[in-house]
Amino acid sequence: MRRPGSLGSIALLLGLELALCRAQVNTQYCGAQDQVEKLHFTSLGRGRWLDPQGRPPGSLAPLYRMVRGFLDVVQLNPFPEGLVRVALNEPSSVRTSDVVRYEAGYVVCAVIALLFLLIVPTVGFCFCCCRFRRRCGGRVKAEHKSMACERGSLMTFLLLITLFLLTGVVCAFITNQRTHDEVGPGVRAVPSVLNSLQGLVSDIPQELQAVAEQFSIPQTLVLEDLDDFGVNIGSTIHTQLRGTVYPMLTSLQRLGQDLKVSLDHLQRLNSSTVYLQNGQEPLAFSLRDHKHNLLFLLQNVQCQGCANALDLAKLLELGANFNQLPAVTDVLQKLQGVPEANFSTMVLKDNSTFNTLPFLTALETTDTVQDLKEEMAKIPEEVKSLAKGFPGSGAADRWRQALAQAENTSRPYLHAIQKYERYRWIAGYVLSSVILLVVICNLLGLSLGLLGISAREDSSHMEIKGEAGAQFLMAGVGLSFLFSGPFILLIFATFLVGGNIQTLVCRSWESQELYQFADTPGNLPPSMNLSHLLGLKKDISILSAYQQCKEGVPLWEVLQLNGSYDPEKHLDISKYTVQMQEELRNFQVDMQNLDLLTEAAKRDLEAFRHSGIEKIDYPSFVAQVQKPLVKIDILKLIKELEQLGQAQSNPDLGQRLTQEAWALQAHYEEMIIFMQTHMVMLNQSVHALSSSASRLQLLASETLVKANSLKTDLPTWIEQIFKNESECFLNRETAYFTQYVDWARQMVTEHIATCQPLSEALDNGRVILCDHIANPWNAFWFCLAWCTFLLIPSIIFAIKTTKHFRPIRKRLSSTSSEETQLFHIPRVTSLKL
Ligand SMILES: *[C@@H]1O[C@H](CO)[C@@H](O)[C@H](O)[C@H]1NC(C)=O
Ligand SMILES: *[C@@H]1O[C@H](CO)[C@@H](O)[C@H](O)[C@H]1NC(C)=O
Ligand SMILES: *[C@@H]1O[C@H](CO)[C@@H](O)[C@H](O)[C@H]1NC(C)=O
Ligand SMILES: *[C@@H]1O[C@H](CO)[C@@H](O)[C@H](O)[C@H]1NC(C)=O
Ligand SMILES: *[C@@H]1O[C@H](CO)[C@@H](O)[C@H](O)[C@H]1NC(C)=O
Ligand SMILES: *[C@@H]1O[C@H](CO)[C@@H](O)[C@H](O)[C@H]1NC(C)=O
Ligand SMILES: *[C@@H]1O[C@H](CO)[C@@H](O)[C@H](O)[C@H]1NC(C)=O
Ligand SMILES: *[C@@H]1O[C@H](CO)[C@@H](O)[C@H](O)[C@H]1NC(C)=O
Repeated sequence: MRRPGSLGSIALLLGLELALCRAQVNTQYCGAQDQVEKLHFTSLGRGRWLDPQGRPPGSLAPLYRMVRGFLDVVQLNPFPEGLVRVALNEPSSVRTSDVVRYEAGYVVCAVIALLFLLIVPTVGFCFCCCRFRRRCGGRVKAEHKSMACERGSLMTFLLLITLFLLTGVVCAFITNQRTHDEVGPGVRAVPSVLNSLQGLVSDIPQELQAVAEQFSIPQTLVLEDLDDFGVNIGSTIHTQLRGTVYPMLTSLQRLGQDLKVSLDHLQRLNSSTVYLQNGQEPLAFSLRDHKHNLLFLLQNVQCQGCANALDLAKLLELGANFNQLPAVTDVLQKLQGVPEANFSTMVLKDNSTFNTLPFLTALETTDTVQDLKEEMAKIPEEVKSLAKGFPGSGAADRWRQALAQAENTSRPYLHAIQKYERYRWIAGYVLSSVILLVVICNLLGLSLGLLGISAREDSSHMEIKGEAGAQFLMAGVGLSFLFSGPFILLIFATFLVGGNIQTLVCRSWESQELYQFADTPGNLPPSMNLSHLLGLKKDISILSAYQQCKEGVPLWEVLQLNGSYDPEKHLDISKYTVQMQEELRNFQVDMQNLDLLTEAAKRDLEAFRHSGIEKIDYPSFVAQVQKPLVKIDILKLIKELEQLGQAQSNPDLGQRLTQEAWALQAHYEEMIIFMQTHMVMLNQSVHALSSSASRLQLLASETLVKANSLKTDLPTWIEQIFKNESECFLNRETAYFTQYVDWARQMVTEHIATCQPLSEALDNGRVILCDHIANPWNAFWFCLAWCTFLLIPSIIFAIKTTKHFRPIRKRLSSTSSEETQLFHIPRVTSLKL
């Protein structure tokens, strides 16, 4: 038991206590108010996630659906596995008949296109020759009744067809542009995706390293918490024990004071008793002396008026008998040297020691905390090897090579695609513009023709309008004939490419037949063995790899890495935390110097308890003290004697009486007055002691018992609180590590070593090729074909309508009366057709 003995150490403790009171934040580790802080880690591996490229269907979606429906009709055959296998493995031995059989729908379309290509220009050529010889395309021969009706319906049909053409050409413009807009980014996306996939394996160790480094976040927190551990636990212990220790100290202090007071009283009791007993004999003797003298004087017959004084003098003797006072020597002897301890100093010191408990606990835990901090400052081997343990290097190289090669191989194709796409775009633009010209010609021709017809009645020179309208229509017809060849060629070329992409690739890609095809051994040439190139695991097919990646499994479940990898093994830091737990659990708090009673104080209390102070016969004291010291009032007697001395006629007697009075007075002042004072003191002490002795006795016993039990209980309590608190502390610190482990697990499996980019790249490839490129591409030729085939009726109706716009030169005919009325034609001329 270490107990600082000097005032200096008390001052030191007091100083510490003050410092602690200021610094002390009452942080208990147990209790709901202390929620575990949420840790914030830096996310990693986000960049490798590919965003889905899908877009909501635009306004052209119905058109795309229609085109796909058309293509489904054209290509009814399923995916031609055998054909593709042969084409990939031995391109030279592909039999044309197989291709034709598979592409039957396209062949039919090709025949139609060929017919169109042959017939339309031929017809156009013939028409041209015919026109040149003025055999056809002339003017109506004669006005007759049904002509206006015929003209009207012809014009209506032509207008309708022109409007359809206009719709088609607008659609062709839009889809042409859209295709062009999509192909560029789509093609550029290929190398960038391949590039980003290259890092899929090789960047993993770096990012795992970064994950491992973030172990320092919980670690730093734990190290900081360990710094405060001792003081905080000490504070908690202090807070919890305060309710017991402070009252105990207060009662100790009071007991000390009471003890002191009682001892003082006891001392005074003894000294007064001794004083009174010693004074009793002489007093009694001298009183007897005085009484004898006074009786002699007062019984003298000459004494006048002495009867009263004589009565008093007869009673001049001691009232109390101090020899009957009980002895307290026994008790006093037992209390010899009490109090040995200075209770107030002791309590002050105890209080200071108790109040510095946080500091003392901190001191006691210093070594343990230091050891722990050293342990915790290390990063667990498991976490350290999180990155090193990743067996990716071989796989990463192969993977990177495969992707780099894919990028190299695809580069020329991608350039070619962009080049041809540009040609297609220009051709599409030019030809759509031609159709637009045809539409404009038709519209202009129609409106001028209409103007011409309505102006026929006015004057002959207005017929120029009709002629011009006819010329416009004929220009449209000419353009249609002239460009029908290029139209059909562009349409067929883009149809063949886009249609096959849709029916051969997109359809089977969407239904995942393509993956199954790649999975079947022998389908792909050995140089294109994808599962080998991608380094897939032996027992995993491309299709299931794709599906698993889509579900977000980690890379190592799909890829064949050089060795296995189990992140759980690296995130198992239980060994690390168990070390901390053991160290803290084995820690023994030693709070022996929290003994509230010093040995001296204990001896004091024991002495007091056994002193028998409560057994002193206080009533005997009271009995004697209550009696008067002298039976009569001695001052009254003196006064009486003095008066008698004056009043005596016998001067001798008077003088002697006066002398007696003086002697008595002197005696009184010299002795009686002191004895009376002592009696008063005795009375006071007796009363004080008799009322407090048994209570104090009890208190002393109780205090002794309490102090003894506290001496054994306090360490147990403290240990208990320490255990509870350090357990809560451990839980809190482990929670930090648990947060880290959870985060790291999620990071590693879901973000860093995820093979989601693999499936997402494939999905995005399909979306870009099929949804973004093939759809508008197919819609483009569809619109263009729509226009091109509408050109045939447009040509026919245009030629027929032209006739009606040309001026009619013929004689007036009676049959044309209605028409004359209708159009107010003044003169009708006949012309040959
Ligand atoms: C002990 O110290 C505390 C805090 O300084 C004080 O509040 C209390 O009164 C003291 N008790 C005694 C008995 O001195
Ligand atoms: C009692 O008082 C007397 C007179 O003061 C003293 O001489 C004596 O030692 C005292 N007795 C004890 C036991 O203290
Ligand atoms: C106890 O010590 C204080 C100072 O430390 C002093 O003032 C007081 O008188 C002492 N009391 C006793 C009974 O010795
Ligand atoms: C695979 O790991 C072994 C040792 O585990 C090593 O010898 C070998 O070179 C590694 N192969 C590759 C391709 O990294
Ligand atoms: C890719 O092509 C570049 C030059 O075009 C060449 O240096 C590189 O080695 C090629 N990489 C692969 C993997 O073929
Ligand atoms: C790819 O090659 C592996 C051996 O490297 C072989 O087991 C597998 O069947 C091949 N896959 C295909 C689709 O040819
Ligand atoms: C003795 O003291 C008590 C209380 O202090 C008082 O009531 C009583 O009158 C006193 N007796 C004498 C004789 O002084
Ligand atoms: C310690 O915890 C146990 C159970 O959690 C509880 O019963 C006990 O009272 C606690 N002890 C202390 C000293 O807080």
